Amino acid sequence: MTEKLVYPDAQSLARATADHFVTQARRAIQQRGRFSVALAGGSTPKAAYTLLTHPEYSSQLAWQQIHIFWGDERCVPPDHLDSNYRMAWEALLRHVPLPPQNIHRMPGELPPHQAAEAYQVELSGFFAFPASARQHQTFDLVLLGLGPDGHTASLFPGSPALEQTDRWVTAVEHRHPPAPLVDRLTLTLPAINAAAQIVFLVSGAGKAGILAQVLAPPQGEPRLPAQRVQPASGELLWLLDEAACQDLP
Ligand code: 6PG
Repeated sequence: MTEKLVYPDAQSLARATADHFVTQARRAIQQRGRFSVALAGGSTPKAAYTLLTHPEYSSQLAWQQIHIFWGDERCVPPDHLDSNYRMAWEALLRHVPLPPQNIHRMPGELPPHQAAEAYQVELSGFFAFPASARQHQTFDLVLLGLGPDGHTASLFPGSPALEQTDRWVTAVEHRHPPAPLVDRLTLTLPAINAAAQIVFLVSGAGKAGILAQVLAPPQGEPRLPAQRVQPASGELLWLLDEAACQDLP
């Protein structure tokens, strides 16, 4: 099931995101005793993460049962300005009573392929499946952003990472001209698409063009990475603000 919800502005989008996080967390904890969420990097989700530290939200969450993961990470130390972990730590994690062992950071400081292997092991252990499991479900919630080129997490157009089917985590070489080659870690499509719920957060007029491309009726094979996010059995939700929707029909 795919649903789109549109909000007047970035602030109301952030509130809707925080509300949704609380709803999903309470539902998962009630049903399974824990809530696993993969956070998005970038700038869009930051306002929602900050809202979750406010007592009106934070007091509704059983932080001891909440497990934080990442959808992707830059291959930098955790205190680096480009680190998605650092953004989430500053905006949310340092302000809430999360047990340290519930924070499952992608080890961006390690050599990329070693880091991807280490996180793969961590995910396999956390989502340990009985052999009989028919549908491997991963996260209760995956939050994703949308890049101007249609990338999501660190799955960039044309990247071999898009074709990874037998791993949940992979290393990505990403050149951002004129910036030098930046290595990244990312969840793969199988890991993302096995989630119970996937939520894209898209805000601002700058994303209107790419959003219209991504949400256009499919013509043949999906071209853009974000179009290949198709939950196997979970839900797909787009939380949008009006500015990002201005090019939608
Ligand atoms: C990253 C993100 C990336 C991001 C999009 C949107 O590490 O940068 O995972 O996929 O979500 O590029 O970024 P903004 O929210 O900053 O527009």
